Amino acid sequence: MTSSRTLFDAVGGEDLFNRVVHGFYTRMRTDDLIGPMYPQDDWEGAEDRLRLFLIQYWGGPHTYNEQRGHPRLRMRHFPFSIGMAEHDRWLELMSASLAEIPDADLPQPYRDAMWNHMVQVADMLINQPE
Ligand code: HEM
Repeated sequence: MTSSRTLFDAVGGEDLFNRVVHGFYTRMRTDDLIGPMYPQDDWEGAEDRLRLFLIQYWGGPHTYNEQRGHPRLRMRHFPFSIGMAEHDRWLELMSASLAEIPDADLPQPYRDAMWNHMVQVADMLINQPE
């Protein structure tokens, strides 16, 4: 991956991110453990925020920063109690969403890169000792 060809370009741009995040939030809406933490009257807004964050992180437009400022994800997650169970559930829902995307649309090296980043961020967001 070079600076002239980002993962965002390599996977064909926004559409892939829309699909991954939509699949994730479709599951989140009915999740019993962490679903209730999300704003029940603003699912579309929440979907937008994660989508725009990932697009920006992987080299697409910087709309996230324009709308939200610096991500500061650890700080933004402090209001939520995140232990190992919440961490695992987030990743489980994301893994299920990624599994719906055919390899042709998200080849393995890009899939691995996206997944590793999500695991790293999820680890960093744990704010409750077991
Ligand atoms: C570890 C388990 C996690 C839990 C329980 C969790 C929970 C939440 C909740 C409840 C929100 C508020 C929804 C909203 O109004 O936008 C949120 C926002 C957000 N989360 Fe997480 N999250 C987790 C992991 C992650 C990971 C791994 C990422 C990135 C790969 C991430 C990225 C974001 C972003 C970008 C926002 C919106 C921030 C903003 O601009 O306000 N989260 N998360």
